[in-house]
Amino acid sequence: MRIDIMTLFPAQIESVLGESIIGRARQAGLLDIRAYNIRDYSEDKHRRVDDTPCGGGRGMLMAAPPIINCYNAVTADISEGDAKPKVLYMSPRGKTFTQEDAKRFALEQRLVILCGHYEGVDQRAIDILEAEEISIGDYVLTGGELAACIISDAVGRLIPGVLPEAVCHEKESFEDDLLEYPQYTRPIEFMGQKVPDVLLSGHHANIEKWRLEESEKLTEARRPDLYSKYYERKMAAEAAKKKRKRRKTTEQ
Ligand code: ADE
Repeated sequence: MRIDIMTLFPAQIESVLGESIIGRARQAGLLDIRAYNIRDYSEDKHRRVDDTPCGGGRGMLMAAPPIINCYNAVTADISEGDAKPKVLYMSPRGKTFTQEDAKRFALEQRLVILCGHYEGVDQRAIDILEAEEISIGDYVLTGGELAACIISDAVGRLIPGVLPEAVCHEKESFEDDLLEYPQYTRPIEFMGQKVPDVLLSGHHANIEKWRLEESEKLTEARRPDLYSKYYERKMAAEAAKKKRKRRKTTEQ
């Protein structure tokens, strides 16, 4: 998968996405992540990329021309009739990013991510690029770079081969709308606290049952919104199971 990130601070992107699992996946050629400095595409002799908002107001806005020039250069290799890449604009007013969005974006061959700065971006750049606005949470960052790194990490780890096979198939938070259960490793006793006995029992069915119950308890306490989705699905699945059972006994 290829992710092109348009930013005023490409070094910030590299400092995050050059390391660890994503950094290694890039070196292995599984992920092609490139950061572009929008300033390089300014036609202004002082390489300016911002201007004051029309109609007045505070701060500066990122102007549309350097952004569109940057996008055109980034996508110059795409032929006329070919599919356009999915474009995302990082913004606190966007849709809040979820694991579902990560899965949806991971199906794309190419993503282009625009990082905003100052007081925002000229609306025409967002409209011309048909960008989907994405927020990483209800707080305001100094720019979209960290948000772009978070999206790239969450999407990148879903690309086959990026995570070790064993990790991919493990249950993790947000699968089935449940948060992950508590995990423990050695030492068995630490500062007077022991690993729960069931995890040392070797009884796999009991361990699975305990983990599910812990996940349910945690989700209900911390994320009632997720829990109600999970609970509705669980009830529907149980009702369907009962119905199948009833049908089977009447057929016999
Ligand atoms: N830029 C500034 N704040 C942001 C946020 N919360 N999400 C995405 N981009 C942003």
